[in-house]
Amino acid sequence: MINVAIDGPAGAGKSTIARTAAKNLGYIYVDTGALYRAVGVYSLRHGFDTKNADTVAATLPDIQVELKFLGDIQHVFLNGEDVSEEIRTPDASMAASDVSAVPAVRQFLFDLQRDIAKQNNCIMDGRDIGTVVLPDAQVKIFLTASPEARAQRRYKELQEKGASDTYEAVLADLKQRDYNDSHRAVAPLKPAEDSVLVDTTALNLEKSVEKVISVIRNKMTD
Ligand code: DC
Repeated sequence: MINVAIDGPAGAGKSTIARTAAKNLGYIYVDTGALYRAVGVYSLRHGFDTKNADTVAATLPDIQVELKFLGDIQHVFLNGEDVSEEIRTPDASMAASDVSAVPAVRQFLFDLQRDIAKQNNCIMDGRDIGTVVLPDAQVKIFLTASPEARAQRRYKELQEKGASDTYEAVLADLKQRDYNDSHRAVAPLKPAEDSVLVDTTALNLEKSVEKVISVIRNKMTD
């Protein structure tokens, strides 16, 4: 199977770019952040402290997370319920960042990710795909952009959904998540040694997709 790993910080455009590139190449697109978000949403719903690693780890026996592909769209199910919308709130983003620092959570979601990649040509995006989940992926890309460019894009997305968050709040949240994700002890966000860096600060969506597809094609013909 062909596996492409795309890692990078929040808001670099990973999901939109990876989804479009996957469609173009005929691969499935797997958004692994949705898995961490589903675990976070479980704690939020039950009023658990997402910053308490023991509390979060203790929820895992009560959680079943599944990914299903309806058409080529990924849906995430939490104990049989489709939570694909609920996982996208700013609270769910922060909860996901919190629970993703818990080693038991990463272990819990590991096999699920590996199994999908074993069975499908896929582009998988996340934080540790090239470094931990799929160290043998044929192509690894580290996709990034400046914090301000990323915050601006997130802000626009939230505005389109009618959310009232300010740009400053979005930027502060994003910087906090960057810090959390790259300073945690287990599987911190960092480029794999054999990854290709793609910076989308000055690229629009179309150019970013072109760049990513050309990196994939070049690697495949190496
Ligand atoms: O990509 P995202 O914003 O949906 O991810 C939500 C959180 O999940 C993010 O703050 C870090 C975490 N995450 C992770 O630790 N490892 C992954 N492979 C994907 C996401």
